[in-house]
Amino acid sequence: MASTVILGMQWGDEGKGKIIDVLAEKADVVVRFQGGNNAGHTVEIGETKFVLHLIPSGILREGSQCIIGNGVVVDPMGLINEIEELEDQNIKILDRLQISNRAHLVFKFHKLMDGLKENQLGGKMIGTTLRGIGPAYADKINRVGIRADDLKNKAEFKEKFTFALEHHNRIFEANGTEKLDINSEWEIIEPAIDYIAPLVSDTIASLNRAIENDKAVLFEGAQGVWLDVDHGTYPFVTSSNTTIGGVCTGAGVAPKHINKVIGVVKAYTTRVGSGPFPTELFEEAGNSLREVGNEYGATTGRPRRCGWFDAVTTKHACLVNGVDSLAITKLDVLDHLDVIKVCTGYKIKGEVSFSVPASIDQFDHIEPIYEDHPSWKSNTSIAKSWNDLPHNAQKYLSRLSELTNVKIDIVSVGPRRNQILFI
Ligand code: IMP
Repeated sequence: MASTVILGMQWGDEGKGKIIDVLAEKADVVVRFQGGNNAGHTVEIGETKFVLHLIPSGILREGSQCIIGNGVVVDPMGLINEIEELEDQNIKILDRLQISNRAHLVFKFHKLMDGLKENQLGGKMIGTTLRGIGPAYADKINRVGIRADDLKNKAEFKEKFTFALEHHNRIFEANGTEKLDINSEWEIIEPAIDYIAPLVSDTIASLNRAIENDKAVLFEGAQGVWLDVDHGTYPFVTSSNTTIGGVCTGAGVAPKHINKVIGVVKAYTTRVGSGPFPTELFEEAGNSLREVGNEYGATTGRPRRCGWFDAVTTKHACLVNGVDSLAITKLDVLDHLDVIKVCTGYKIKGEVSFSVPASIDQFDHIEPIYEDHPSWKSNTSIAKSWNDLPHNAQKYLSRLSELTNVKIDIVSVGPRRNQILFI
């Protein structure tokens, strides 16, 4: 497997967690390189459902070491909850998880700031997960963030924490929002320091050592290309680079060590939060995909917006990331439909276009050009190989591959580990 990167090609929630879990069977190291606990990667093993937010999905495979890279923003309290929940589900964490000493930390004041900024945007709100992700990355870029390495010296940490909290309090006060009390916040955060500090290390050194020793490494993307702060539907994006460059900066690994890029896409499209979504379906059609696909956010429980597969955005996403092959998930969700549509191009103010606009205003004028596909109306969730798939499902997948110009390696037909076809 060497080094393989798994990235979402849509707006997140493509089912990356399951693909990573399956591939992690043969991985020595699994690495998160961006985002924070805004992510929600769901993996079902037998009757048990695991939802991972910060910890790489590889933790569910006993043989894998897991790294939270320098590009991730870590909420210490969120991480402790996640570790404890997984340990309650009999997953051993503490000797298998390392956090980069360069990773930035997320605190309660970042979450409150996330809410304040959303309120100020009113009708133009991003619809964030309110996990403080944007404000924590903003502090990082403003060079006032607090890093995991700071956990190792409690006195200095306290000084930085107090400074940051007071800075945020001044903003809360100016905006008529309740301030945080330093003493009560310190009482909460101090025990978290003792818990997390032993997990902090130079992960760049250990990751590169693993690569030198020919270990199989999986890089686990969170969110998706269209939520990338540079390449996504700005400003309706998250605050990190969810695309391929984020692997190098967010894990401390050179491009020459990346051997394969797998793009994960649903057989249709979903999005949570506000922002453009050209192929969105409303009412009956959208509701049916949502209910059959159980399209509710793993982190916030919000209903996901649902729509047809968009080959224009997906082709662009594959190009930007140099995707070698696609993993198509949730094919079975389309089993019940009478007609299946794929968007092959856009009409923007009467002009046909095959590219994705940069401007949000342009998105408002997109009329998707659709191609109809015959349905298959049979149960794909029991398929074990390509040949078990109904002819029309094969034709549908082949068409997605043709339109995006990328071959399909993996098709997932249900949440279980064994509901997967390798093509
Ligand atoms: P934030 O990352 O919480 O700042 O949210 C910014 C945007 O990204 C919002 O539209 C969120 O709904 C979306 N988002 C963040 N994380 C995820 C995810 O894991 N899946 C899907 N959407 C996400």
